[in-house]
Amino acid sequence: MKKRIGVLTSGGDAPGMNAAIRTVVRTAISYNMEPYGIYRGYQGLINNEIEPLCSASVSGIIQRGGTILKSARSQEFKDKEGRAAAIANLEKHKIDALVVIGGDGSLTGALALQKEGVPVVGIPATIDNDIACTDFTIGFDTAVNTVMESVNKIRDTASSHERIYIVEVMGRRSGYIALYSGLAGGADSIIVPEVPHNLDQVCEKIQKAYRAGKNHNIIMVAEGAQVNGDQTNPSVAVSKYIQEKTGMETRIVILGAIQRGGAPTVNDRLLSSRLAYHAVSLIHQGKTGRMVGEVDKAVKSWELEYALAQDQKLDMEYYHLANILSSI
Ligand code: F6P
Repeated sequence: MKKRIGVLTSGGDAPGMNAAIRTVVRTAISYNMEPYGIYRGYQGLINNEIEPLCSASVSGIIQRGGTILKSARSQEFKDKEGRAAAIANLEKHKIDALVVIGGDGSLTGALALQKEGVPVVGIPATIDNDIACTDFTIGFDTAVNTVMESVNKIRDTASSHERIYIVEVMGRRSGYIALYSGLAGGADSIIVPEVPHNLDQVCEKIQKAYRAGKNHNIIMVAEGAQVNGDQTNPSVAVSKYIQEKTGMETRIVILGAIQRGGAPTVNDRLLSSRLAYHAVSLIHQGKTGRMVGEVDKAVKSWELEYALAQDQKLDMEYYHLANILSSI
């Protein structure tokens, strides 16, 4: 009997997931395996939403954002009973191994499955870039390009009205999106959860810039930053502080879900294709319980448990560079 391989996407979607699904399906076929799609992530696995896929099922999707397999965040799967139902469905369909495409929560779920006897390989996909053992996660590059384009537009109106704009971006506990899009978009200040910030310095920077003739200001704030003890609305807290301290008018833009959509960039399509090819090759070789990643342009794999226990450290060189460029 041919080996059967299941694929699912889970958690927050990320541009490039479709390119990864396409590669999983076509690589599986090239190894003479039968690919199965599981819809709506782990919840769909519990609900038995499983169907065979063929090469044509994944044609015309490489350029599409989102995920054709849909995604979900499943509470039920976090319990052993939920996972038992999921495992029973995999057995019902005689699926031998699973490829999980998603962020840290989804890969943690994959590890639980592996420990309960299901051979799994994880592919890191989240716009947050908060998973270690890979330079970038699938979807991050597209998301930062989207944010950068938005910042370009915000800058036009900021400069016309001589205003301060606070732009809040996603990244749950990570400052990667704020940092990369802030550096690429020429932000004046970048506030992230990983680095302590000083709002008085932010205000001084604004006043110094205005005195020197720069009449607008862009401040990037990561949604996970804690500002004055306010964890839920960091951009509102920053805005209030600046208005009170400087007397200047501010505006807030929360970019939200726009960051998760759109056609994946070249980098994301290449990363998705390479990682997914490696994931299926590992299954073909009988190597599971692993996560694939790309480090210094080389595709590698690590024990999933090891990868999840590491911290994806913020690139401090980028942080310092952004600081220098915006302080002169
Ligand atoms: O993990 C990806 C992400 O987009 C985070 O940046 C964000 O905090 C979260 O998902 C939002 O999730 P949801 O769309 O389920 O509210």
